Amino acid sequence: MTSRSIIIDTDPGHDDAVAILAALASPELQVRGVTTVAGNVPLALTTLNARRVLALAGREDVPVFAGCDRPLLRPLVTAEEVHGHTGLDGADLPEPQAPLPDRHAVDWLIETLLAARDDPVTVCPLGPLTNIALTLIREPRTVAGIREIVLMGGAAFEGGNTTPAAEFNIYVDPHAADVVFRSGLPLTMLPLDCTHKALMPADWIESLRGLGNRVGNTVASLLTFYQRYDVAKYGSTGGPLHDPTVIAYLLDPELFAGKRCNVRIETTSPLTMGMTVTDWWGVTGEPANCMVMNQVDAGAFFAFLSDCLGRF
Ligand code: BDR
Ligand code: CA
Repeated sequence: MTSRSIIIDTDPGHDDAVAILAALASPELQVRGVTTVAGNVPLALTTLNARRVLALAGREDVPVFAGCDRPLLRPLVTAEEVHGHTGLDGADLPEPQAPLPDRHAVDWLIETLLAARDDPVTVCPLGPLTNIALTLIREPRTVAGIREIVLMGGAAFEGGNTTPAAEFNIYVDPHAADVVFRSGLPLTMLPLDCTHKALMPADWIESLRGLGNRVGNTVASLLTFYQRYDVAKYGSTGGPLHDPTVIAYLLDPELFAGKRCNVRIETTSPLTMGMTVTDWWGVTGEPANCMVMNQVDAGAFFAFLSDCLGRF
C-alpha cells in the first residue's frame, strides 16, 4: 500500500487530539511530523498536549515542532471555555518521554517542504493558519513541496462559532488565512457547515470505553468534558467533532460533498473579521480557489473514528 505523507499543524484541543489519533491509526497515512501553533490554548500547552497525545498513542517517534506563539498581526484569542485550562481537560494523558526538538516549526516546515518536491506532502491545518502562512511568506518555493492543503476552518452559510460571522481557526488569525487562501495551492476546507452536521451520537462517546484499550477510555473521558460546552451552547444532544473530518476526508473523500468556490477572508471589518466569504453561487466571477465541503455522512464518519481508535 502506498501511503500519503502528511503534516498535521495543530492546537490541541480535544478534537485535534482525536484527529491526530485517527491519523496515527491509519496505515494509509504517514505522519511526517506534528507542528503546533497557539490557538485553543497558548503555544506551550498546545505543544505539550500534542506530545502527550503521541505518548498516549505510543508514537513518540513522530516529531513535534513548536511554532508560532501568536497570530501574525492580532493578539491571540484562546478557547479555554471549550477545552479547559490545559487545553485537554477531562483525562490524564501520559507525560511525554521524547524531548522537544529545539527547532521552530516554520524552519522545519520550510526544510521539509523544500525537500519534498518530488513527493509532495499533504498539509493538514487543524488550528489557526499562522505557521502555514509564515512558511509560505518566508520561503515561497515551499509550494512545490505541498500536494494540497486540507484544513478545518471557516463557515460558508453556517454563521460563526466565535463571532456571528467567523469560525474560531480563521478568526484567530485572519491575516494568515488570507495568505493561505490567496496562495494558489489546492485547498479543501471542512467548515462548520460540514462539522455541525456531524454531531456526536448520544451513545457514541461511551461506546469508546468498550473498545477495550487505553486510547478509547481516555478519548471517552476527554470528549465527555469537551462536549458539555457545545451541548449547552447549541441545545443539541451531541457536540460537533470538527478536526477529525480532515483525516476522514483524506481517507474517504466520498463521505463528504461540497463545491469548488471562490473564498476570500475578511481582514478589515471589526464586525465580520475572519469571515470566510464564500461565493457559492459564482456571483463574483472570481476563479474558484477552494473545495468547500458542506455535507457529511455522519454515521460513517463516527464509525470510521471508532474503527481508528479501536486499532490502538
Ligand atoms: C475549531 O476551533 C477549535 O476550537 C477546534 O479545535 C477546531 O479546530 C472549530 O471551530
Ligand atoms: Ca483545532
